Amino acid sequence: MERSLTLELVRVTEAAAVASGRWMGFGKKDEADDAATTAMRKVFDTIPMRGTVVIGEGEMDEAPMLYIGEKLGLGYMPEVDVAVDPLEGTNIVAKGTWNALAVVAVAEKGNLLHAPDMYMDKIAVGPRAVGHIDIDAPVEDNLKATARALGKDVKDLVAVILDRPRHDKLIEEVRKMGARIKLISDGDVAAAINTAFPNTGVDILLGSGGAPEGVLSAVALKCLGGEIQGRLLPEDEEQAERCRKMGISDPHQVLHMQDLVKGEDAIFAATGVTDGELLKGVRYEGQHATTHSVVMRAATGTVRFIDGKHRLDKKPFSLE
Ligand code: FBP
Repeated sequence: MERSLTLELVRVTEAAAVASGRWMGFGKKDEADDAATTAMRKVFDTIPMRGTVVIGEGEMDEAPMLYIGEKLGLGYMPEVDVAVDPLEGTNIVAKGTWNALAVVAVAEKGNLLHAPDMYMDKIAVGPRAVGHIDIDAPVEDNLKATARALGKDVKDLVAVILDRPRHDKLIEEVRKMGARIKLISDGDVAAAINTAFPNTGVDILLGSGGAPEGVLSAVALKCLGGEIQGRLLPEDEEQAERCRKMGISDPHQVLHMQDLVKGEDAIFAATGVTDGELLKGVRYEGQHATTHSVVMRAATGTVRFIDGKHRLDKKPFSLE
């Protein structure tokens, strides 16, 4: 893939973040999501690539833009798969809480898992614990192995888990082991990324969240040298069939890094919409907005944090 694509993708997530950040605290998650999607879509039109959305806002008949199969970019090389989550954490923005992101990932054509919109069980860690986790093992074993890899006691680990009734048993098991827990209301992509940055205070992500978010997290962790394992959780035969149609022959198989994102290269970009442990949210002041983004590339392992200062009166896309 072209190296220049890396910086082009930050423009995409910055635009989505600046557009949706305006909705912070308004209690309107759909409006925030629409604003992010519209802005992201417009900037994609300016990028020299031939992209196809493989993870997006839904099927063609249910999403007006960034739908699965939609072609993006100016229409010349490179040919890439595109995964988008224009606003990861719609409720977060509606409430104005932590860790909403605008997110994009690309990989060479055919290299991203076409994850259906259903739940995925996940376990993710940063680089130092790679090779020490096993989604099939008991929670106790994963916590002990991660603690050992990080040179910590289990009681000093922090597990991040989505605060959902479906995780009650998992939370109980982690508590029984004496590890600390960070319960989050939403946003498991940020949580997965945070496991790769010790300064965020998070060591391991456990529990189920969206499958598309699992693929986006996998791209980020591939760039960062971390690891995520997943297992789709189809709720009925219809969902299992949807997995098969999307090329996943055994819907219950463990999905390792190479199943989620193949090949050597992939690019991940995210811009903070609201404040998080890793990225600050958007700030507005008159005709200016400032953004904080991270962009990274798997082939080189380069991770860049980029602060943007944007002139809102000069942007080529509407922010309303
Ligand atoms: P949205 O941005 O689509 O609202 O998703 C936020 C999120 O919290 C994801 O980070 C997570 O993977 C998923 O929702 C969890 O789903 P649920 O809210 O159904 O438990």
